[in-house]
Amino acid sequence: MRKIISGLSAEENTDLLEQQRQERYMEAAREKTAALAARLHRTPTCHVTNFGCQMNAKDAEKLLGILLSAGFEETQDEAADFLIYNTCTVRDNADQRVFGRLGRVSHYRKNNPDMKIALCGCMMQEDLNVEKVLKSYPFVDLIFGTHNLFRFPEYLAQVLDSGERIVDIWKKTDRIVESLPSERKYSFKSGVNITFGCDNFCSYCIVPYVRGRERSRKPEEILGEIRALSESGVKEIMLLGQNVNSYGRGLDEPCTFAELIDRAAKIDGIRRIRFMTPHPKDFSDELIEVIKRNENIARHVHLPLQSGSTQILKQMNRKYTKEQYLALAEKIRTRLPDAAITTDIIVGFPGETDRDVDDTIDVIRRVHFDNAYTFIYSKRTGTPAARMEDPATEEEKKDRFSRVLKCVQQSAKERALLLQGKVMTGLVEEVNTQSPGKVTARLSDNMIVHIDGDESMIGKFYPIRLDICCGFYYFGETAGEEIV
Ligand code: 5AD
Ligand code: SF4
Repeated sequence: MRKIISGLSAEENTDLLEQQRQERYMEAAREKTAALAARLHRTPTCHVTNFGCQMNAKDAEKLLGILLSAGFEETQDEAADFLIYNTCTVRDNADQRVFGRLGRVSHYRKNNPDMKIALCGCMMQEDLNVEKVLKSYPFVDLIFGTHNLFRFPEYLAQVLDSGERIVDIWKKTDRIVESLPSERKYSFKSGVNITFGCDNFCSYCIVPYVRGRERSRKPEEILGEIRALSESGVKEIMLLGQNVNSYGRGLDEPCTFAELIDRAAKIDGIRRIRFMTPHPKDFSDELIEVIKRNENIARHVHLPLQSGSTQILKQMNRKYTKEQYLALAEKIRTRLPDAAITTDIIVGFPGETDRDVDDTIDVIRRVHFDNAYTFIYSKRTGTPAARMEDPATEEEKKDRFSRVLKCVQQSAKERALLLQGKVMTGLVEEVNTQSPGKVTARLSDNMIVHIDGDESMIGKFYPIRLDICCGFYYFGETAGEEIV
């Protein structure tokens, strides 16, 4: 096993120098890939499997961009010449899925001894996971973490060059290198990172430990990236961060999230702008007003509740009460009546009782969520909640989860039904693989609608009538020409 020593420490180097350094490694990676192609008598293939959130998906686009730029060709098959898993560790089942998949990977390697296998992302920031991989999955060639993803060209060049295993995990970074190649999954929409890391330390959450301290990109860099995306045909932008509305802390020139999104929304060609994920404690009135003023800011607020019980919220270190959350949701409903409010809920947090779950259900009914992701609490080693007493049985947790889920589904269905018969603007995103002759569009409020159509409609806006409500989504039809 070899540990990369890069010569320059993170602190000694500027972002620009680092970028130039990685560009040189890109050249080296291209040479190595060309040599591999000559040996194989074909273009080597690559596959990036992504687990987890939107920020990971954005990272996966960078990984793929680097591999394609080095000369690999993308395949949908994991049995590729270069396979990389960008991992997630937010809940235990995410970890287990990766280990499950790795079991299969050893067979691919047996059939293709030239195959290179890499692991990166949040799971690799945890020592125990790295140790497990090193011990039980000896065929993994490259392991790196979240803080040094921008060094992938360097690792790629080296791993293609030698048969040695490379492991490089950084505990932290203050570096932001954002201009390496990236291969967007969609030509017409793109995520744009605005903050990295999280300083909230919700007591159940592993993210602050694996993604590090919160850092904001400079407004000019973000707006410059959005302008360039718009010029290349992107119409919809999603501003990304673990806690987007605390954007701006620590910047030399102050800028709030509301100011940033206001400026982003005014960039020519940006027809829709979304953001993910805000924290209720930082959701300012200014932000609500900015959304109201800018019609191209999506009518969708994802506002993670986690629990409706003030007592549990305190234990979770969420820094708001049930009443404060309800007041905020009420304000959003009043000021932005056409906006959908969706949420995340955790059931089974240590010490949670039936009474606490009643409070969660009360909030679901009162806010009337348009949708919610409901999770069973997953113990994450090293977080404060992992050390809390948890007397509830699995059975009780499952019952509570079913109660919450039923309520969420009911709420979502009722909200969706309010749209029946309306004509709304949808952006066609993809061909529907389940129903031939149909394409899938997304409305400003994040509702999904399936309509008759073909590939030529992708990336275009249409007026769409919402005909048949199927709970979380609709079947509809175009009600006019493309909206340009
Ligand atoms: N257990 C269950 N759900 C979790 N989430 C974060 N950490 C945990 C955990 N330990 C959920 C939260 C968060 C979403 C991204 O994942 O609801 O908003
Ligand atoms: Fe985790 Fe809380 Fe940060 Fe979200 S805000 S990433 S739940 S610590």
